[in-house]
Parts: sequence; structure tokens; C-alpha cells
Amino acid sequence: MLFDGIFGGKGSIGLDIGSSYIKAVKLRESKGGYELELCHLHSLPPELIVDGSIIDSMRLVDSLKEMVRAAGIKVKDTTISISGHSSVIIKRISLPEMSEEELSESIKFEAEQYVPFDIEDVNLDFQIIGPKDEPGQMDVILVAVKKDIINEYIQVVKEAGLNPIIVDIDSFALENMFGVNYEIEPGKNIALLNIGASTINISILKGGISVFTRDSSLGSNLHTEALQREFNITYELAEKLKRGETVENVSQEDANGVIESASEEILSEISRSFDYYRSTTVHEDISEVILSGGCSLIRNFASMITERSGIETKIAEPFRNIRIPKKFDAAYIEEIAPMMAVAVGLAIRKQGDR
Ligand SMILES: Nc1ncnc2c1ncn2[C@@H]1O[C@H](COP(=O)(O)OP(=O)(O)OP(=O)(O)O)[C@@H](O)[C@H]1O
Ligand SMILES: [Mg+2]
Repeated sequence: MLFDGIFGGKGSIGLDIGSSYIKAVKLRESKGGYELELCHLHSLPPELIVDGSIIDSMRLVDSLKEMVRAAGIKVKDTTISISGHSSVIIKRISLPEMSEEELSESIKFEAEQYVPFDIEDVNLDFQIIGPKDEPGQMDVILVAVKKDIINEYIQVVKEAGLNPIIVDIDSFALENMFGVNYEIEPGKNIALLNIGASTINISILKGGISVFTRDSSLGSNLHTEALQREFNITYELAEKLKRGETVENVSQEDANGVIESASEEILSEISRSFDYYRSTTVHEDISEVILSGGCSLIRNFASMITERSGIETKIAEPFRNIRIPKKFDAAYIEEIAPMMAVAVGLAIRKQGDR
């Protein structure tokens, strides 16, 4: 998605600014495919970003600068993304058939009834999906993002010395990641599920086309907070425990129990979203879940989803169709890959595509 006054360019960095990690990916097009040029994961101190809003922009700029230095980023052009249910509205709506130009003219008027914010406070974009069964009607995906949120992100990225050229949406980036790495099977509905520290992005694709998206403000911070409470430990120690590292006076077995019960809350939210999808669409049930984000690294989390929903759940492979040159530590890339899903999707974005 291109927002007002922001123009795309070739060979930009996909920069996913999450609330717990910044991820940067750069790809190079080679022999009809992609090759990895840069892949970097940089951890952020907690609470710089809360519920999609930048709370401490100065420290975020510092972290970004640090990452640019550590990753040896030379290119300035950057594609970033926004998510979160409080700042992004994505709706599939039905409108009378009209051309793209006509809809560009009238989108503000059409969007007004679907957007719970002042229409002057949001940037709007849309994609015409195609005609509906009812004659004279068409399906459109409407996207509205709060301008102040976009501006907050653009500002910090600029202050860090980068040049933001495209502002995308996390769930659309996931769809792009899926597009380059997976075969589209016409009869299948695939749920892309990205669970980070504080957000769940869900995007359901039918034959490769998005039919449902939803963001929730829950994530793996629930695990961290539960561990902190239960064992009276710091955020840093709780994060270590979560990753399976040893922490004094806490057995991994006790930690696993706490992690599992915190997972229940996330699993319930996923079930609610799937139920909502089933209730709002006439589409068939979900055939497969592709799970990304740091939460997918929690032991057994994918199988817990399968157990709970009855849907086969696979961990995302964002680099499946991307050649990884020898200079990279392949084992490390494989380990962090599920967390890089959004950044890979952003790195694929090019000028003028939608
Ligand atoms: N090896 C691991 N095992 C378990 N959890 C992990 C591991 N590595 C990272 N995590 C957890 O994953 C989360 C970070 O995932 P991710 O990078 O997808 O989130 P984010 O994009 O920063 O957050 P959000 O998009 O929700 O704001 C953190 O809660 C972190 O503790
Ligand atoms: Mg994220």
C-alpha cells in the first residue's frame, strides 16, 4: 500500500518495528528468484512501543541507529509497516461496481460509515477484489490507518537516518511473504497467524486471496508477565526462561507449566478470531495455519493450536524460496526465521505494486 506522498523504490530494506524486536531484511533479485542480502534482529527495551503507539521515540531512534550500525545498513530506502487494532482498520466491503479511478474519487465518502474515527484523521487505501454474486456489486478491501500513527513511525525512521518510502500493514506483508514462498492451492483456505510480543495478526487467504484479516492486542508478553509474577523475577530473566535458558531458583518444568497456562489465553483469542471468521463469511473452513512471530518459538505452541482448533499448524518458513548465501550462519537464520516473516514480506515490496 502506498500512502499519500510516499513513493516506492527498488531495493529497499524491509523494516519491521515490533514492540520487542526490530527486524531488518534486504533481498536481491537473482535469476528469477530472491537472494538474502541482509538479515538482522535487534532486541528493544520493553515499553518503547505500547499497543502500536510509540511511547519513547528518542530511545526508539537510538535503538534504530544502533541496529543500522550493527547490521551495516548502507541503503536508506525503507519499507515499514503498521499493525494493531487501535490504529488500523481493514474491512472487506461491498460497493456498487465502479472503476478504480471512480472509487479513488469517492473512497472517502464510501469509507465514512465503516471507519470508527474521523475520516480526516486517517489515510485510506483500497483494493478492488472483484465482482460479487449479486449483479452490479463488487468486493473491496478497505484500509484505514490513523495518520498520527503513520507519522510517528515515519518520524522515528527518518530521525534514525533512513528514508521511509512505503508504509505497509503487517498482515499484508505476511501475505506477500506467503506469496513468494508457498504454492497457492485453489481449494485451500490458509490462515496466516503472526504472534509477536503484543499483537496477533491474522490473515486468511482463500486460493491466495485475502478474505479476512484481524489484529488483536495480545501476544507473548502474556508469557513473560506470567513468569515475572509467578517467580517474582525481572522482565529480562522471564524472557530468558521463555527461551529455555536456565534461571537461578526456577526449574524449567515449573516455568513450562506457567508458560502453558498463559498460552491458554492466546489460544482462546485465536479460537475467537476463527469463530468470527466462520460467522462473517460463507467461505469454507480453514485448511491450514501458518504460524509466525516469536510466539511460534514457544515449545509446543504450534501443536497446541492444532490440538485446540483441529487445524494442521505449520511454522512459517519465510526463507523457503530465498537463496541464503554462504556468508550467513544458516542455523541462526533458520532459528530466527519465523520472527522475520513480516520483514521478508516488506523487503519484497516494490514501487507501484499493491
Ligand atoms: N526462542 C524463543 N522462545 C520463545 N519465545 C521467544 C523466543 N524468541 C523470542 N521470543 C518471544 O517472541 C516475542 C517477540 O516476537 P516478535 O519479534 O514476533 O514480536 P514483535 O514483532 O517484536 O512484537 P509485536 O509485533 O507484537 O509488537 C517476544 O515476546 C519474545 O519473548
Ligand atoms: Mg511483530
